[in-house]
Amino acid sequence: MSATSTISVGDNQVDLPIKTGTIGPDVIDIGKLHAKTGMFTFDPGFTSTASCESKITYIDGDAGVLLYRGYPIEQIAEQGDFLETCYLMLFGELPTPAQKADFDYRVTRHTMVHDQMNRFFQGFRRDAHPMAIMVACVGALSAFYHDSTDISDDKQRMIASLRMIAKMPTLAAMAYKYSIGQPFVYPKNDLDYTSNFLRMCFAVPCEEFVVNPIYARALDRIFILHADHEQNASTSTVRLAGSSGANPFACIAAGIACLWGPAHGGANEAALKMLEEIGTPDNVAKYVAKAKDKNDPFRLMGFGHRVYKNYDPRARIMQKTTHEVLSQLGIKDDPLLEVAVQLEQIALKDEYFIEKKLYPNIDFYSGITLKAMGFPTSMFTVLFALARTTGWIAQWAEMIEDPSQKIGRPRQLYIGPDKREYVPIGQRG
Ligand code: CMC
Repeated sequence: MSATSTISVGDNQVDLPIKTGTIGPDVIDIGKLHAKTGMFTFDPGFTSTASCESKITYIDGDAGVLLYRGYPIEQIAEQGDFLETCYLMLFGELPTPAQKADFDYRVTRHTMVHDQMNRFFQGFRRDAHPMAIMVACVGALSAFYHDSTDISDDKQRMIASLRMIAKMPTLAAMAYKYSIGQPFVYPKNDLDYTSNFLRMCFAVPCEEFVVNPIYARALDRIFILHADHEQNASTSTVRLAGSSGANPFACIAAGIACLWGPAHGGANEAALKMLEEIGTPDNVAKYVAKAKDKNDPFRLMGFGHRVYKNYDPRARIMQKTTHEVLSQLGIKDDPLLEVAVQLEQIALKDEYFIEKKLYPNIDFYSGITLKAMGFPTSMFTVLFALARTTGWIAQWAEMIEDPSQKIGRPRQLYIGPDKREYVPIGQRG
């Protein structure tokens, strides 16, 4: 007999099934709770709610573990590359060499965007935030690629998935080039995914451009680390948008909009701005005190996580990558890194942070690395969106392919006025 949990509601005893996953906590299936009791559950912020079954990513926040399709993030980041990670996300297994070569080829052949997109860009102000451009342009892909918007057709779903993985770097680089008034650089198919992206960002038509392999490897690793993170806010947004049958380009645009917020993907931009504001290591103690002050809304950006109550495993890899990049580039005394190291040391020893289990998250270090490569802070969240697109797509596809899938439709606890009579405008005081 399968396990159940019994809850008491008034005089009623209600049995609810308990479901068990491969690893991780069991869940109480409350799907029939309303039918049996007339009550809903209440969980703002979904802190106790599993919204779906998934085979893609597993996090143990207490132990600091992150697995993609069962593989530890440390091993993938060390030995794999980003397109292999995309393959793993989409198909559930690591590719054979032949499958990898075929996948790389297919993604590479979708990197160009419809030429009309160039004109689409001209409508934006030059100082538009690149995330604003990304929300619009990715949504606009559904107007350019009608032939891959039928979600009931698995071939179209796959083409849409490949198109998004392939075109995100092109659009992201175009958003950057537009903001600095330089001509767009077309993709070059003999380069790998990440080198191609760096070239589209930093090459200019008037001179040869050689991709720095240190940057390419570090950025590829950053992409791997950001590829998926189970049911976070933007992924849940993509799933919710997709649950209504919306086309995949529109769903990913919704995910990008959600990611933009400073409590989510925007934290890497916010973390770097904070390090710049702190300026020198001797100011660190003052900012730590601000973060602890209940009457001050200031938070240490890049610290804390809803799920990790231990060191974020991505932060460990990112910290190592940051040091590697800076030392290989001969940047020894980066003031921001000094502030970051000092901040990390003080915060990790401080009772407030220890008690609340606030550890540095991935965004704490990624910004320093991206800045060293020459990316402006406004591009940081765009790079996160580029990488997370693969996770969003895999999660979206998993949902569409689930036969029990239905539209996401939470309920509420209504606390507004009780029923009352409408008063015509002429009779209102
Ligand atoms: N600095 C100072 N205090 C903090 C911080 C911080 N960065 N984060 C949480 N706290 C405190 C918070 O004030 C609260 O204290 P109290 O219990 O006394 O009211 C307690 O810790 C719990 O915080 P919470 O906001 O209830 O926790 P949450 O799980 O809702 O929030 C978070 C998680 C990531 C939004 C939050 O830690 C935060 O705002 N961090 C800074 C922003 C950031 O770095 N975000 C990136 C997240 S990782 C990237 C991603 O996955 O998108």
